[in-house]
Amino acid sequence: MFNKKILIITILVVIIGLIIISISTNAFDRFICSSSEKTTEIQNPLNKTEENQMTAIEENNSEAVNSPLKSKIKLPEPQYSSNTSIEEALLKRKSIRDYQKKSISLENVSQILWAAQGITNKAKGKRTAPSAGALYPLEIYLLVGNVNDLASGIYKYKPEGHELILIAEGDRRNELSKYSAQPEAIQDAPITLVISAVYKRTSAKYGERASRYVHIEVGHSAQNVCLQIISLGLSTVTIGAFQDGQVKKAVQLLENEDPLYIMPIGFAK
Ligand SMILES: Cc1cc2nc3c(=O)[nH]c(=O)nc-3n(C[C@H](O)[C@H](O)[C@H](O)COP(=O)(O)O)c2cc1C
Repeated sequence: MFNKKILIITILVVIIGLIIISISTNAFDRFICSSSEKTTEIQNPLNKTEENQMTAIEENNSEAVNSPLKSKIKLPEPQYSSNTSIEEALLKRKSIRDYQKKSISLENVSQILWAAQGITNKAKGKRTAPSAGALYPLEIYLLVGNVNDLASGIYKYKPEGHELILIAEGDRRNELSKYSAQPEAIQDAPITLVISAVYKRTSAKYGERASRYVHIEVGHSAQNVCLQIISLGLSTVTIGAFQDGQVKKAVQLLENEDPLYIMPIGFAK
């Protein structure tokens, strides 16, 4: 009788023990799984969002394929020399806020975009402006209102193919000007650059220091444009005073892109 009791108690202890082991193993598995997911997330913080957003752009563009406008515009090859010395460009650079309502050429647009973020070394993917860790957080948007051989619209510059991707048709300069300092400059100048940034590209590697790096890079890119346009006989003003959220909407930036600088470009009055 006594032996039977001991046997039953032993069996119960073994069963309870097995249940406890099984529960704790599951919990451990779940812990391992979630922490490894977290690790992947930290290693690739951008992939999912950027992939989705690029798909969104492609979808946006596939609509445009059916329109008379082309969704992708291959830009003319940029020039790598000019009659303007770097010293002359530095001497002549100044902010201009009054523009003629005069068109510029597609060649000019090509040259300006190349100066802003163009590729200088195809093998290594290096660009005209330095970038912390060569992570290139900047995205250049172009508002076209008066360019020969280029329909009005919002375009995004793709440095890799030196091409433009159509984001939206139509002249959007007036819309953008509502939310920025120097509205008349934006309304009259034939093009306006909106330099934006994806901070995460840089913060994934540099953490809190990233915003400093991104802001420095915008300066590099904008200065390239300031100097390049002198050799083209054009002018600009670098605008930092604008309503971020409204500009983001007006230019149709992607969710993870923030506008940092606006540059109307054209012939000075
Ligand atoms: C970060 C930054 C933001 C600026 N924002 C504006 C602006 O919102 N509106 C404007 O008219 N000029 C703006 N400017 C241009 C300055 O007013 C201009 O560079 C300054 O008056 C010196 O004149 P200069 O460019 O002709 O040498 C900005 C310049 C910088 C560097």
